[in-house]
Amino acid sequence: MSRRSPMSEVTLRLMMAVGTAVIGSLQFGYNTGVINAPQSTIESFYNETWFSRFSEHIDQGTLTALWSLSVAIFSVGGMLGSFSVGLFVTRLGRKNSMFVANVLAFAAAACMGFSKLAESFEMLIAGRFIVGVYSGLSTGFVPMYVEEISPTSLRGAMGTLHQLGVVIGILMAQIFGMESILGNSTLWPLLLGFTLLPAVLQCVLLPFCPESPRYLLIDCNEESQARSILVKLRGTDDVSDDMQEMREECQQMKREKKVTILELFRSPTYRQPLFVGVMLQLSQQFSGINAVFYYSTGIFEKAGVSQPVYATIGTGVVNTVFTVVSLFVVERVGRRPLHLIGLMGMAISAVCLTIAMALLEQLRWMSYVSIAAIFSFVAFFEIGPGPIPWFIIAELFSQGPRPAAIAVAGCSNWSANFLVGMGFQYVEQLFGPYVFIIFTVMLLGFFVFTYLKVPETKGRTFDEIAAGFRQSAGQLDKYSAAEEFDTLRGDDPDL
Ligand SMILES: *[C@@H]1O[C@H](CO)[C@@H](O)[C@H](O)[C@H]1NC(C)=O
Repeated sequence: MSRRSPMSEVTLRLMMAVGTAVIGSLQFGYNTGVINAPQSTIESFYNETWFSRFSEHIDQGTLTALWSLSVAIFSVGGMLGSFSVGLFVTRLGRKNSMFVANVLAFAAAACMGFSKLAESFEMLIAGRFIVGVYSGLSTGFVPMYVEEISPTSLRGAMGTLHQLGVVIGILMAQIFGMESILGNSTLWPLLLGFTLLPAVLQCVLLPFCPESPRYLLIDCNEESQARSILVKLRGTDDVSDDMQEMREECQQMKREKKVTILELFRSPTYRQPLFVGVMLQLSQQFSGINAVFYYSTGIFEKAGVSQPVYATIGTGVVNTVFTVVSLFVVERVGRRPLHLIGLMGMAISAVCLTIAMALLEQLRWMSYVSIAAIFSFVAFFEIGPGPIPWFIIAELFSQGPRPAAIAVAGCSNWSANFLVGMGFQYVEQLFGPYVFIIFTVMLLGFFVFTYLKVPETKGRTFDEIAAGFRQSAGQLDKYSAAEEFDTLRGDDPDL
């Protein structure tokens, strides 16, 4: 037990290291949101480039394909990056991995920033792919580094700074994307090339940040180095608690063998939790959230909103506010109820949006209903399907199988992200104002799935959760979720 209050453990050095790392999260968010507002401006560039090459205007089908690819190839890179995290972190260490990854950010900024000058949309697409790889790596590096340098009492709070960095990055991109700032036909290359600046900043600051003491102790066996870093990070000579905790973790890692992805799929013990974990990831992406973050400006335009870019910035603000709200809620309330509330809220918002868009011809003020519907869609996302799948996957698996399970979860997440980014415009052309009905159907399906199959994980041991799975496999119909919820509240130490 630490004798000092948690706040006294927030040293300047710790804050600086966390702040520097979180630049990576900011980059991920920025590049998720950056292609939203300037879509039509950059599409004109594709059109003009096409004309100067082939002396004819681009046809609508080709343009849709090229733009969808420009948006979605980011996720292909992201998948590649998230799979490569393990290659870097144990060989180079956490700090150097983050440093080296910036090569990708520089390359991507150059490709995208010079694409207009070079009259090449291929360069823009390549840049999107590269910055996707960088983002996939960041989503692995940043939470790992931040949690490893933070004291136990603050680990949860510090870990959420990654999420906050992402949503602030999205918001920044939406603001910079305004026509009067960078989202116009002359300055859009700067909007995309902006990624360069955070990368430079991170490269300048990282040399002043410490390596993760956990990495030094567990992966390199450098006990004295780990200790001296901890002393500086904590601002006190007494770091025996931290050292003790890491040694215990080291022991536990030796006891519990690391499970490979192949073993994860083969073993019947892991089959059900893995299925649940993957379905939750799919529920996050197929909720349609990235249809909003990639394409909201276009959606608002079709919904008759006169200043679609401002409405898009509004989604970023709502997103940021509700991310903060969920930080407070998620630690106190069970995962199951939050996920169920989030999914149902999103489904209802999607229905409202559909009705508003269908009635737009008769009632112009329906455009305001559309704005409200999309705002509440985003708010409910951040309450449930945004954070919960990541919590549950970490809580379903113990140390041994966890890295493999997270890798599989990440892969399904990025794949679904790609499908939504790539497919949305096509489905929209097909269904018109009823496009969000598809997300409604999926949201309701995931709601039923969560209700029937997803156990509560908060405050429960792995053994209890596993026992629940065995029981529900045998007698699903007798399995009462309400009953389970009651017993849970009984043994919840945090309430
Ligand atoms: C391409 O630009 C031309 C000329 O500005 C325009 O008439 C045409 O509609 C554009 N094509 C598409 C698919 O936007």
